[in-house]
Amino acid sequence: MTTEVADIVALDELVSLCKRRGFIFQSSDIYGGVQSVYDYGPLGVELKNNLRDAWWRAMVREHEEIVGIDAGILMHPEVWVTSGHVSTFSDPLIECQNCHRRFRADEFPGPADETVPTDGNGAAVVDTGALQCPVCGVTGQFTEPRQFNLMFKTFMGPVEDESAVTYLRPETAQGAYVNFKNVLDSSRVKIPFGIAQVGKAFRNEITPGNFIFRTREFEQMEMQYFVEPGTDEEWFETWRERRHAWLIAIGLRADRLRTHEHAPDKLAHYAKRAIDFEYRFPHGWNELEGVHNRTDFDLSRHQEASGKKLEYVDAPSGTRFVPYVIETAIGLNRLLLAVLADAYHVEEVEGESRTVLRLHPSLAPTAVAVFPLVKKDGMPEMAERTAADLRRSLPVFYDESGSIGRRYRRQDEAGTPFCVTVDGQSIEDGTVTVRDRDTLEQDRVPAEALRGYFAERLTSPAAP
Ligand code: GAP
Repeated sequence: MTTEVADIVALDELVSLCKRRGFIFQSSDIYGGVQSVYDYGPLGVELKNNLRDAWWRAMVREHEEIVGIDAGILMHPEVWVTSGHVSTFSDPLIECQNCHRRFRADEFPGPADETVPTDGNGAAVVDTGALQCPVCGVTGQFTEPRQFNLMFKTFMGPVEDESAVTYLRPETAQGAYVNFKNVLDSSRVKIPFGIAQVGKAFRNEITPGNFIFRTREFEQMEMQYFVEPGTDEEWFETWRERRHAWLIAIGLRADRLRTHEHAPDKLAHYAKRAIDFEYRFPHGWNELEGVHNRTDFDLSRHQEASGKKLEYVDAPSGTRFVPYVIETAIGLNRLLLAVLADAYHVEEVEGESRTVLRLHPSLAPTAVAVFPLVKKDGMPEMAERTAADLRRSLPVFYDESGSIGRRYRRQDEAGTPFCVTVDGQSIEDGTVTVRDRDTLEQDRVPAEALRGYFAERLTSPAAP
């Protein structure tokens, strides 16, 4: 019998579990750390890989009309001029002239904990005279907002002059647009079709924070779905439903997800319509994934700037058009934060408290932990043989140190869905116990049947 004793996990508890169990570490820790850059440890990298694979399976492998690419992080600098990022990918920055702390004006908490209002173009309307600095407490010392471009600038080649300036990509989407023709010509896809991509993106955020929620370096999982103009609104609805269903299928609680429709004056420069799926993160409700109707904005602009036709020719009618794009865009790191926060439970079990990560079994960094009950009587040898056999198809952890209770608790905190124990009876009849992380029930299973037993229980969620 288990009783839940905590609801939404506090961020510092989650950060502490991530460090203790080897999910996530502060970058360059031994030098005092780098603000808002994080490294993924042994369990974190497995969880991140599993999430990425689950997304890729749901978006590419299970859709015959969606193909993948992996474009470079560095692109031709003209891409970012054409896409509008050089001129408009910015946030309004204000600075307290007393303590020199900088804030995003559009996220500055107003008197009633509301954000500062924005004008019809999405720019903040700030009466700096009325603002009190939340750091030093001084009122009326803020500068006027100025637009701060979020792209990281760098130089390509040995000469550091204006002609060598390029950018680290702030979104992966442009890689799909500039490869639209390559994919069309090489893959024989027919409209509607999608190009999916996972990769790093960089933004020089003014206010990174809330652990891995907003960082300057992060990974995006984006899919651009090319459709015939006029069918875009219907496809927008389809993708919005599919993406919501996937978030639930990987285990996120429905009551911690909600949809936010962007008001026309808050739309990104490329979008005709946009919704966010917001998740109830430990720090509050915030964007997890976006679904955008980008119209023919990007392809038309690239066509014009490059002079290369980016049209689709419909066969057999011969009709030509520049497709509209429905985009689904989610941050892998942000998803990982949501998944960890969602899975985190503190429970009372028979008078004792346990912390458990109820991760979807197919996402867990370790699928099965194998223990000998004691370090004698042939149990370690049989447990090692069992672990080696399972390791051929699953991520397995072998542990023979400490009491069995402590070993179970360690795996609960790591989110391991199954623990196999080799005991005295195992030596006699070849069966082992399998403990279920969530129900705490134990099955007795012949060791040789374990692979089939787990194959059934560790299947990934199907693509909605
Ligand atoms: N291509 C469209 C695009 O980039 P976005 O809403 O700016 O849209 C998509 O970003 C997703 O990328 C967000 O929903 C979020 O999950 C993730 N993301 C954006 N900025 C981020 C940051 N600074 N740190 C972590 N994740 C971020």
